[in-house]
Amino acid sequence: MPQARITATGSYVPAKKLTNLDLEKMVDTSDEWITARTGIKERRIAARNQACSDLAAKAGASALKQRGMKSSELDLIIVATVTPDTFVPSAACMVQEKLGAAKAAAFDINAACSGFIYALSVANAFVRSGQYGKVLVIGSEVLSKITNWQDRSTCVLFGDGAGAVLVEPAPAGEGRIVSVDIHADGSKGDLLMIPAGGSRTPVSEETVKKGLHYLQMSGNETFKVAVKTLENLVLNTLRSNGLQSSQISLLIPHQANLRIIKATAERLGIPMERVAVNIDRFGNTSAASIPIALDEAVREGRLKRGEYVLLEAFGGGLTWASALLEW
Ligand SMILES: CC(C)(COP(=O)(O)OP(=O)(O)OC[C@H]1O[C@@H](n2cnc3c(N)ncnc32)[C@H](O)[C@@H]1OP(=O)(O)O)[C@@H](O)C(=O)NCCC(=O)NCCS
Repeated sequence: MPQARITATGSYVPAKKLTNLDLEKMVDTSDEWITARTGIKERRIAARNQACSDLAAKAGASALKQRGMKSSELDLIIVATVTPDTFVPSAACMVQEKLGAAKAAAFDINAACSGFIYALSVANAFVRSGQYGKVLVIGSEVLSKITNWQDRSTCVLFGDGAGAVLVEPAPAGEGRIVSVDIHADGSKGDLLMIPAGGSRTPVSEETVKKGLHYLQMSGNETFKVAVKTLENLVLNTLRSNGLQSSQISLLIPHQANLRIIKATAERLGIPMERVAVNIDRFGNTSAASIPIALDEAVREGRLKRGEYVLLEAFGGGLTWASALLEW
């Protein structure tokens, strides 16, 4: 079976910054609390007229430009998101239209913060099966529009942004996706959810009054499960690939909380210099956080051919996922 690799990256974040000091004026919180508990200093907020597919198309276009590929060559577009412009059509179909990728199939994936790695696993399988050769995978979120700006336990955490990668067949010696692991535990789904707006509890005057269309999270409980799950996940990923943590050149974790990122790196014995961190600037952008961090690493020249890169994420569902790349 042919192998697949990431051939280009791109990202886009909205211009508007919302700092911890701005949040101090909105809810009962402090820069000190947010920095100490999460590592976040500021996050980006989409403009009123910007939705998921707008950010996604910009990130996708940036990956295509880096590769020098025309959008008309794309076979498939996958968008990982929990904040699509609309339930129907999918954000991916809107991106297809915006990019002019007329021959590409398109669909969305919802695996919350693990969504990008889930989407990468699908792209990897399509390319390895030989069905598609040029797949655009995008993580894009406009979490600011599903955030309850009166709830200090969540509104300080999230931000907006998009990241993209191109996945194509890998010629020998030019990097590859070594392995992708995806997992879920639906029994703990209530830890992180949007209670209303779906077919269980459709939007009504009552649900809007109660704010049930906003993201809700049992932060502390989720934190504990995340740390434990991610430790096992990354150790298993190394073990099953016969690698030592010293062989990982860069760990790119989902950016949910600096304390979770540090705990995972410490468990692996990877010094923070080899961990991609941008949570201070972007907060938690769910499915977008890993591809944004990967794009930054590529543009900063942090990745060299043949080096191992480990991606890992944990999020609502619950879901968790890892991917090992040989760059
Ligand atoms: C959300 C999170 C930052 C909260 O940090 P925490 O250390 O768990 O804090 P707690 O929720 O236990 O709250 C501690 C105290 O701070 C208070 N608090 C919560 N938000 C606050 C805020 N923005 N500003 C000030 N105080 C706040 C709480 O009310 C609580 O006060 P109390 O002790 O008087 O009850 C953290 O739990 C987290 O990151 N969770 C996991 C996120 C994650 O991985 N999600 C999955 C992917 S999205």
